Amino acid sequence: MEKMQISSFYSSLLLLLVLLHLAAEVRPQLSSDFYAQSCPNVLKVVRRQVLNAVKTEMRMAASLLRLHFHDCFVNGCDGSILLDGSDGEKFAFPNINSARGFEVVDAIKAAVEDECGGVVSCADILAIAARDAVLLSGGPSWRVLLGRRDGLVANQSGANSNLPSPFESVAAIFQKFKDVGLDSITDVVALSGGHTIGLARCFLFRNRFSGDDMPLESNMASELQSLCAQSSDGNATAALDRNSVDVFDKHYFTNLKGERGLLSSDQRLYSGDDAATKALVEIYSDNVALFFADFAKSMIRMGNSSPLTGSAGEIRKNCRVVN
Ligand code: HEM
Ligand SMILES: *[C@@H]1O[C@H](CO)[C@@H](O)[C@H](O)[C@H]1NC(C)=O
Ligand SMILES: *[C@@H]1O[C@H](CO)[C@@H](O)[C@H](O)[C@H]1NC(C)=O
Repeated sequence: MEKMQISSFYSSLLLLLVLLHLAAEVRPQLSSDFYAQSCPNVLKVVRRQVLNAVKTEMRMAASLLRLHFHDCFVNGCDGSILLDGSDGEKFAFPNINSARGFEVVDAIKAAVEDECGGVVSCADILAIAARDAVLLSGGPSWRVLLGRRDGLVANQSGANSNLPSPFESVAAIFQKFKDVGLDSITDVVALSGGHTIGLARCFLFRNRFSGDDMPLESNMASELQSLCAQSSDGNATAALDRNSVDVFDKHYFTNLKGERGLLSSDQRLYSGDDAATKALVEIYSDNVALFFADFAKSMIRMGNSSPLTGSAGEIRKNCRVVN
């Protein structure tokens, strides 16, 4: 009897070890030194290209940050947003006439291929460029985890269903974050702070001065109203953070406290009925160091969303097409 218990103990232990081993096999294996041997200068090469692009047009920092986000929310961080073609993610509603920076990614990729051909994935380039874009805008830095491989398909319907819309509730947006493994409300609020840089078009915030149930400070309301009145197609743009559009700082959160959020979904974090998001907005508006630390942590978490590793996918030669 005792003998049997012991042997069943050992066989359970063995099973556990086998399971742990399998779990380790399937867990994404990203690391900050992934290219240490195969492309030791990759970070420098990318940084130089991002710096050039941002010097030419400061908004490019915002656009590059958003590309990594829109990549990771659809089929994981696999460079799928970069694929050309009419069935591509570029033509999904949240991206069409909106996602930008593809030429800059081409330039980065060309420089990286020049340094070490066929080694660095487009998905990793997006992750590095997003980090550099934030840093060069005055935001935090972090060690980017690397080793993602590029996907073989784009997913336009996935882009339409997975990417959050400014007209959605906090709960609906939180669910979309959870779907990619970002299961803390801190991820939602900290990453929304990405709206401290960049622009949005009238037709995505027009509701703010007609019919939105979220408050909008009156001077800002009349300014936006006249801007958008002159833009019948809704293409005119306004700063997501009107206080400092090109600087990565905590003004996004102080704006929300002053009812100066540009998008309905921005203002809802503070003025909606979710006490947890409101509390975090209060905290970040008062503590830029904590915002930066949480933003960096959540960017790393976002970058871990279902990467292709090992021999899955490929290393694309040209980010716009599969090999
Ligand atoms: C929480 C849900 C989010 C919603 C509903 C949302 C929605 C939007 C919308 C509607 C725009 C303007 C698009 C246009 O006018 O064409 C925009 C721009 C932008 N978003 Fe978000 N976003 C969200 C989260 C994020 C996250 C997590 C990040 C990055 C960490 C981010 C970074 C940006 C940036 C940087 C821009 C400006 C891009 C540019 O100027 O090129 N957003 N977002
Ligand atoms: C709005 O801008 C997009 C390109 O960014 C363009 O394709 C579209 O035609 C513009 N709308 C109008 C009515 O000009
Ligand atoms: C596209 O994305 C959706 C939503 O994430 C997913 O359910 C579906 O499997 C994806 N399709 C492909 C072909 O990757």
